[in-house]
Amino acid sequence: SMKKVNKICCIGAGYVGGPTMSVIASQCPEITVTVVDINQARIDQWNDSDLDNLPVYEPGLKEIVEKTRGKNLFFSTEVDKAIDEAEIIFISVNTPTKTYGKGKGQAADLKFVELCARNIAKVAKTDKIVVEKSTLPVRTASAIKSILENTGNGVKFEILSNPEFLAEGTAIEDLLHADRVLIGGDETPSGQEAKDTLSSIYEHWLPKERVLQTNVWSSELSKLVANAFLAQRVSSINAISALCERTDANVAEVSRAIGTDSRIGPKFLNASVGFGGSCFQKDILNLVYISRTFGLNEVADYWEQVIIMNDYQKRRFAENIISTLYNTVSGKKIVFFGWAFKKDTNDTRESAAINIADALLEEKAEIVVYDPKVSADRIYADLDYLDTRTPEENRQLLTVVNDPMEAVQEAHAIAILTEWDEFKTYSWDTIFEKMLKPAFVFDGRRLLSKEEMEEKGFQYYKIGQS
Ligand code: NAD
Ligand code: UGA
Repeated sequence: SMKKVNKICCIGAGYVGGPTMSVIASQCPEITVTVVDINQARIDQWNDSDLDNLPVYEPGLKEIVEKTRGKNLFFSTEVDKAIDEAEIIFISVNTPTKTYGKGKGQAADLKFVELCARNIAKVAKTDKIVVEKSTLPVRTASAIKSILENTGNGVKFEILSNPEFLAEGTAIEDLLHADRVLIGGDETPSGQEAKDTLSSIYEHWLPKERVLQTNVWSSELSKLVANAFLAQRVSSINAISALCERTDANVAEVSRAIGTDSRIGPKFLNASVGFGGSCFQKDILNLVYISRTFGLNEVADYWEQVIIMNDYQKRRFAENIISTLYNTVSGKKIVFFGWAFKKDTNDTRESAAINIADALLEEKAEIVVYDPKVSADRIYADLDYLDTRTPEENRQLLTVVNDPMEAVQEAHAIAILTEWDEFKTYSWDTIFEKMLKPAFVFDGRRLLSKEEMEEKGFQYYKIGQS
């Protein structure tokens, strides 16, 4: 059996809440979807009449928002009203790594999630299905449950875990053609009813067999494990990239050779300057923390190595730039092509570019950044957050430009840090002419052809190829 759903509320209008709810609204025209956030500026951006000002850049997103906004999709700061009216409430707030107290630097900070639960407990007058959409440690649902069940106002809550698997840059595609949707809930009649109710939303556009139901704990844990396995593949191939550079092996050939084994599979084997993004590191640290909490030190050490390898890859890239530029980059102009953690997103959280910049700025390099989607404010905020030097020093040493051709004028080197397609279309001959000689290119994304770049005269270094 299922409940009839007329209204959905989502708390958190970020990279997950915004795209996910836009797709639900477009696929379920009979349901009213309200996305709420305490951040007024963010809600204003979601409501901006110029769709190029949406706070999240994702291919295909603005078209969906244009079609649904004001019809059955709404963005608002009226959190209580939206909670009150909805039958299903998604919690999609941020769950960053704790920066204080117990578990500092590893555990997930659940204060935003807890605030949501308390808010729901305070406002709800009718029975609700509460859905954890945020990525959470195992057994968080029980904490939410205990907050909700101790309100004493007689309202019944069912708590479901429904982690999100979309990747940024392909969020809309991933949502529309999800490999699977995971729904965890209690194995009681009312738990089953809640799971079926939520399943019915996704079955508006996904085949029934893609919607997997599990118990709550399996669902919560599977999300962390999926990210850990994905990140592990990147660290594995990055480890091999270092070995390729010392031998005459080519990491792309190795990836192809192993990826054609159907048990290994071809995806997620691109060597890079290191993975970034808001989740891989955070979720693995969380897994490490939970394992240690249970005394499973070998398990914790095993997964921690994925992060240690990623840090090594970033450091290795920066050190290679410095040593190749005759061990001194002081006063040298180094251009960054790309700042986002991957292409087709304006998100920069944990981007490798941040650490590479920091390492080069320590050596007093003069950095010029060009990224087609990331604002100067964002770039400076990322650097200032590290607190390695004063904001004034960061602005003195690093500049942000809107024109890549202006950036490369008299540059000593270019570092490619995001795999934006447009970098491949540039006239690299013109770039060569504008640069100082020898003209160095450090390709952290394996975007260009080594033969062609060397033919043009570049000193070209590509991750994973000697
Ligand atoms: P985000 O920071 O982009 O968005 C979170 C939003 O929640 C913010 O706008 C914030 O203002 C709002 N918020 C915080 N507390 C609130 C409260 N009490 N009431 C109302 N609004 C509140 O974060 P995100 O990238 O969307 O990630 C959200 C969750 O989804 C995280 O747990 C993350 O791990 C998970 N996740 C993210 C991705 C991704 O690609 N970014 C993918 C899958 C899962
Ligand atoms: C990742 C997962 O892919 C999603 O399934 C998950 O929902 C999400 O995390 C999350 O929980 O937040 P995302 O971080 O958006 O998605 O992007 P990915 O495509 O996974 O890339 C992550 C990082 O790994 C990027 O910096 C990317 O450049 C890097 N990467 C990826 C590589 O270096 N090589 C690869 O082969 C693949």
